[in-house]
Amino acid sequence: MTATAAERAAMTHALEIARRGPRGLNPQVGAVILSPDGAVLAEGWHRGAGTAHAEVDALSQLLPDELRGATAVVTLEPCNHTGRTGPCAQALIDAGVARVVYALDDPGDHSGGGADRLRAAGVDVVSGEQADAARALIADWLDVQRLGRPRVTVKWAQSLDGRAAAADGSSQWITGPDARADVHRRRAASDAIVVGTGTVLADDPALTARDGDRLFPHQPIPVVIGTRRTPADAALRRHPHEPLFYAGHDLAAVLADLRDRGVQRVFVEGGPTLASAFLAAGLADDVLAYLAPVLLGGPRLALTDIGVPSIGAARRLTVDEWLPLGPDLLAIARPEQEAAPGAETQYQTTRNEGAA
Ligand SMILES: NC(=O)c1ccc[n+]([C@@H]2O[C@H](COP(=O)([O-])OP(=O)(O)OC[C@H]3O[C@@H](n4cnc5c(N)ncnc54)[C@H](OP(=O)(O)O)[C@@H]3O)[C@@H](O)[C@H]2O)c1
Repeated sequence: MTATAAERAAMTHALEIARRGPRGLNPQVGAVILSPDGAVLAEGWHRGAGTAHAEVDALSQLLPDELRGATAVVTLEPCNHTGRTGPCAQALIDAGVARVVYALDDPGDHSGGGADRLRAAGVDVVSGEQADAARALIADWLDVQRLGRPRVTVKWAQSLDGRAAAADGSSQWITGPDARADVHRRRAASDAIVVGTGTVLADDPALTARDGDRLFPHQPIPVVIGTRRTPADAALRRHPHEPLFYAGHDLAAVLADLRDRGVQRVFVEGGPTLASAFLAAGLADDVLAYLAPVLLGGPRLALTDIGVPSIGAARRLTVDEWLPLGPDLLAIARPEQEAAPGAETQYQTTRNEGAA
């Protein structure tokens, strides 16, 4: 069974309106309800954990008579988990919907299986319509489900001889404007930007994502890890988001807390100590190393101890791309044992139930 032209157009629209919902604990999902002759009756999207799921949002705008024989077009498989409001699959069945077209299977152990429930109730079900676009839309949320924590990118800039700072600790700037603009674009694609107290004390960074002098519309939450106090007038305290301070060294606990706050993607921009700690703990999913054609010498290496006693234990990376940026070169890499993004994996969690 395949989607009709009207259903395909409705899916394209559902993917657009899904973006109106926030990034957070739940995925961005859109839904469009069509009449049996393909006219758009209603649309809905998910506005975040604790609110109605997209299909329930759309259903709620229609009278029972309008829904009989209708088609629901949804970007994610209607959920199947039972909570206060019951599963969305059952809500569609109860509403008398005759056909459901969805893009992506729900990966949750508890929320998946909605398609089977619909089919068992005699509803026509078409899956996989524009699945790639739907997967791209919620790729970061899918990563959180797969990893059980936000996806972590560890970034540093280094001289050609592997130093992250000059002997006196100054490091602004090792790379040129093209590389720094690239960093800001990647900051803007993250939900949180993480440094250690060492970087705050040495560099007083603003931790904003900037396009020249202008702030990007989406700003990552600034996060500082470490036990030392940071100055009351530190630049990051003027960030549009209230900074988060974690007075300890437990990176897994920090990531768990960020995950609970709806953070899906973390950008680690600390100095060598924090970068090394993330790598040593196996908590780096992506590595971005900006190489500048400059020599610094001295003791301030880009990484410190990452738990490699001998060459046999070297942490080998797969480089997905070597990207020239003006005179600099960016290595976009990931630890070799990491599965490629989008690879089939075991998912661990479910969507939060929406309160209707
Ligand atoms: N080239 C680059 O890309 C780049 C980027 C940033 C900074 N830098 C340079 O790096 C230097 C600062 O280096 P840094 O290593 O001190 O900065 P850092 O890695 O940002 O901060 C290190 C501090 O983080 C805290 N920390 C939090 N979690 C930790 C953990 N799991 N293990 C160990 N420590 C943890 C500790 O502080 P407490 O003692 O307070 O607990 C530690 O001293 C400066 O010269 C700066 O200019 C270079």
